[in-house]
Amino acid sequence: MNQIFILILLSLSSSWALDNGLALTPPMGWLSWQRYRCTIDCVNHPQECISENLITRQANLMKTEGYLDAGYNYIGIDDCWSELKRDENQTLVPSKERFPRGMKYVADFVQERGFKFGLYGDFGLRTCEGYPGSLLHMEVDANTFADWGVDYVKVDGCHVLVSLMDEGYPKFGEYFNKTGRPMMYSCSWPFYLSLAGIEPNWDSIIKHCNIWRNHFDVQDSWSSVESIINYFGDNSKRLATYAGPGHWNDPDMLVIGNFGLSYDQSKVQMAVWSILAAPLLMSNDLGNIKPELKELLLNQDVIAIDQDSLGRAGYRPLKKSQISAWKREITPVISNHTSLAIAFVNHNDNGAPRFGNFTFEEMEIDTSERFNGYDIQDLLPSSTQKYTVYQSDGRYRFEILVNPTGVLLLRLTARESL
Ligand SMILES: *[C@@H]1O[C@H](CO)[C@@H](O)[C@H](O)[C@H]1NC(C)=O
Ligand SMILES: *[C@@H]1O[C@H](CO)[C@@H](O)[C@H](O)[C@H]1NC(C)=O
Ligand SMILES: *[C@@H]1O[C@H](CO)[C@@H](O)[C@H](O)[C@H]1NC(C)=O
Ligand SMILES: *[C@@H]1O[C@H](CO)[C@@H](O)[C@H](O)[C@H]1NC(C)=O
Repeated sequence: MNQIFILILLSLSSSWALDNGLALTPPMGWLSWQRYRCTIDCVNHPQECISENLITRQANLMKTEGYLDAGYNYIGIDDCWSELKRDENQTLVPSKERFPRGMKYVADFVQERGFKFGLYGDFGLRTCEGYPGSLLHMEVDANTFADWGVDYVKVDGCHVLVSLMDEGYPKFGEYFNKTGRPMMYSCSWPFYLSLAGIEPNWDSIIKHCNIWRNHFDVQDSWSSVESIINYFGDNSKRLATYAGPGHWNDPDMLVIGNFGLSYDQSKVQMAVWSILAAPLLMSNDLGNIKPELKELLLNQDVIAIDQDSLGRAGYRPLKKSQISAWKREITPVISNHTSLAIAFVNHNDNGAPRFGNFTFEEMEIDTSERFNGYDIQDLLPSSTQKYTVYQSDGRYRFEILVNPTGVLLLRLTARESL
């Protein structure tokens, strides 16, 4: 009786997450959408149109500029890559003008340089931009993607009833699985359900998707990035429980390196995405990026927080006086002594750097006797920011100074017990 019970438990737990061996840490890479959208006019926009030229150019830059070595190893094409019509066999056809050598050529090109290749599809009748969707062609499309050598599929959810998604997304996943080619599966399913006011079935989403979009598309602006941060903050304790090796929340692309974010705001996106254990998928022009932003994207200390092997997503314990405080447990340096990444984001955009004052209790940080305090490292130092940790009224506190719409990102490593 007991044995049977244990067997059932085991089989439940082994089917709990998508078992394709992918995305054991949050995926990193580059996607075309936020920066290049649906630019298809290669005559007037030869450098920006969604084309073989764009993808191979960014791939070469990702390799020569050090992004691949830093961990950014996916390159994905988003919407608007195909012809408007399927061929006589109902197969998707890449734009003949913009991908003259087909998609296999592009996949081979990026894979030969050490990358994995991503391609976009839509679960509905049409993609968000009106290209053919997969609703009635899931099996043939899964096979086509596998034939081309796709490693990562982003499946959007435009032009379809949300009531079909609970069955459809898993079904499409089964067809991908059946091809025998492991493909990282990015779903938009929970976002569209939430948008329709329906609580997503999280057990099913975790089981069938490697990453999933929770909220609106990111735009190249602070207001967009901040609204995503606030959404994840407001829901972070719950959302953090869905994340783990092989299955991650996706707050959408990094817009660092474009036009809309200041240097401080770029640091905020990098820091909060890392605390959230979010995919780090850039969408920018790697051939035209300011040196300090490139350095930020390549910052190994911050990337290490995002990629931490414990795979535990962080959350926002509190927000007060327009400063949000974030915390993620990371792999301990000394076994059984917690190490943490902590971020303070100053949401005030008026005037000078602002002071904040947070107790360890408010931050839900262990201060039990067995700890001999923490070694603290500022991972994104700025000459106008500072922090101190001190004890008063028997409480440990952070006193911090953070730039307007900026972030203080700290790594706390517990010291050996006395
Ligand atoms: C459609 O399939 C048939 C039979 O396999 C094949 O001969 C034909 O070339 C295909 N058409 C296209 C456009 O690939
Ligand atoms: C297909 O699913 C099975 C069972 O979950 C898994 O063991 C296998 O690795 C998957 N294969 C691919 C190619 O994703
Ligand atoms: C940490 O783990 C070691 C080895 O398991 C154990 O001996 C020690 O008591 C633990 N320390 C604390 C403070 O839990
Ligand atoms: C933080 O709180 C402590 C204790 O209430 C107080 O002594 C200190 O002045 C405060 N610091 C700031 C910057 O508000």
